[in-house]
Amino acid sequence: MTTLQKSTKYPLISIALHWFILVAVVGAYVCVWAKLYNPWHFFFGALALVLSVVRFVTMHALAKRKPAIIPPISPLQNLAALVIKIVLALGFIILPLQGLLGRAFYGRATDFWRVEIFPAFDVNPEIASKLLQGHVVFAYVLLGAIGLHAAAALFHHFVRKDNTLKRMM
Ligand code: HEM
Ligand code: HEM
Repeated sequence: MTTLQKSTKYPLISIALHWFILVAVVGAYVCVWAKLYNPWHFFFGALALVLSVVRFVTMHALAKRKPAIIPPISPLQNLAALVIKIVLALGFIILPLQGLLGRAFYGRATDFWRVEIFPAFDVNPEIASKLLQGHVVFAYVLLGAIGLHAAAALFHHFVRKDNTLKRMM
């Protein structure tokens, strides 16, 4: 039974990280739209960063334990899914860093409830504005990537009726 579970699902750590990161990322977007920047947008964004770094490391370490999709998909579909997964895995490391660095170059430290998690740098409005403009554009690019990735997962589950999504639950 244990052996069967290991081979049909992602390792528990991958599943937990995947869904916790989703919660943090959704939190960061919702707080932008609700105009709750300080501390909530920054808090969920920084949480997404920490969890995404842990995921990036474990993803590689656990790559061999990735369960098979049944029935198998074509090499082209596999490649498309892999590209989006890499964009998402790296993107949610780069995006929060752009936010933290952008603030830092405006001379603002990022702190939560008086605990500083990222320092202020010497003010450089040019770099700061470039980083934050990049942050906004990249945030919407990644939103599109999440949409594609989630739509593909739902297509696999409800239309193709394979085990793609069940492996991540
Ligand atoms: C998952 C992580 C994050 C996501 C998805 C995200 C998303 C976004 C989005 C969508 C906007 C644009 C709002 C608009 O439409 O104008 C924005 C703006 C901003 N974000 Fe983030 N963000 C993240 C992490 C962070 C972090 C960690 C910080 C800094 C601590 C940060 C700082 C900012 C700032 C200062 C702005 C305002 C930029 C401006 O209007 O010039 N973000 N973010
Ligand atoms: C913030 C949003 C999301 C991000 C950043 C994200 C990122 C990722 C990454 C990096 C992987 C590879 C995990 C690994 O190999 O350990 C993955 C796999 C997966 N994700 Fe997401 N994901 C997001 C949202 C979603 C949503 C909303 C769904 C479902 C509707 C979903 C379903 C899946 C499934 C089924 C897999 C396994 C796919 C496969 O093995 O090819 N993800 N995701």
